[in-house]
Amino acid sequence: MLSGNRQASPPVWMMRQAGRYLPEYREVRARAGGFLNLCFTPELAAEVTLQPIRRFGFDAAILFSDILVVPHALGRSVRFEAGEGPRLDPIETVAAIDALPTQADAAIFAPVYETLRRVKQELDPAVTLLGFCGAPWTVATYMIAGQGTPDQAPARLFAYREPNAFQKLIDILIDASIGYLSAQLEAGADAVQLFDTWAGTLPPEQFSRWSVEPAQRIVSGIRARIPDARIIGFPRGAGALLPDFVERTGIDAVSIDWASEPGLMRERVQSRVALQGNLDPLALIAGGDALDRAVDGVLSNYADGRLIFNLGHGIQPETPIAHVERMVQRVRDYRG
Ligand code: CP3
Repeated sequence: MLSGNRQASPPVWMMRQAGRYLPEYREVRARAGGFLNLCFTPELAAEVTLQPIRRFGFDAAILFSDILVVPHALGRSVRFEAGEGPRLDPIETVAAIDALPTQADAAIFAPVYETLRRVKQELDPAVTLLGFCGAPWTVATYMIAGQGTPDQAPARLFAYREPNAFQKLIDILIDASIGYLSAQLEAGADAVQLFDTWAGTLPPEQFSRWSVEPAQRIVSGIRARIPDARIIGFPRGAGALLPDFVERTGIDAVSIDWASEPGLMRERVQSRVALQGNLDPLALIAGGDALDRAVDGVLSNYADGRLIFNLGHGIQPETPIAHVERMVQRVRDYRG
């Protein structure tokens, strides 16, 4: 698919497919103790990466890790508190950015590469193995605020007030991401995805500076090391700015959220790159006819072109497993 081929029914996987909606994940998660322990123990991280492949037969496995391992490797404290999401020590001053190391600590990433090597060995070669990291803007929003916020106001304010210092933070994250994703590809990932979950909070000029330019530099930095590297972008909420993102970054495929306008996506995005998405994760929670209609909507909008069937964002913990099975079956039964 990423190299331009089409199959009878589109390949299918789900963002956040390893996670709390699965009892087998909750069991390993409890055994691992902390969430970061799970991310950094190759045996356990490989196991939870493979769980959704065994259960649902997805066409892609995504490395089990988190976007916040990069701030962790830059010396920031990162904690995951049960039921509360991630907590970091916030960055409130220019001095705190000046004090950051310019290089990530390579030893922190080593177990992640080991996880990929293990998964690659166990995985059916027909299943694509994906690595990933967070895009600089999205990672920066958590580093500045110290936690998730509804509209990323702390990072947006910081970027307006201290653009030079903010650029320095973004540059550090760009370099770390190039090294980290290149090494993931070298460890066995077939492709990597760049998650810019909070791209849609930026006005167009800021989107260009903090989402498009960093993604473009990451793509060209990786391709300087690995010329045929396959890279998927996900500037969530980019809307009408997506064609510009695709053109300027040179990515191979793009993930789209459920609010995307189908005509624009087909004519100006899917005509250039493979498209991944975009079922509303709430339709997956609802199930029944609403789910069937939503699955059919994605297929009728996009399955005539290059489509990797996915959700428009991560699966939510309360999603019934039977609904995931129903979705996969309906996609597999599709004959375009
Ligand atoms: O997709 C997969 O199955 C691979 C694993 C994966 C995780 N996080 C595991 C995880 C991936 C690709 C991510 C990416 C990620 N992490 C993003 C970008 C994608 C997106 O969903 O927007 C972001 C913004 C994060 C940061 C993060 N990590 C948050 C906000 C949270 C708390 C919210 C939540 O869902 O709990 C996490 C924790 C996290 N990352 C969990 C998992 C399975 C749940 C933690 C747990 O098991 O206790």
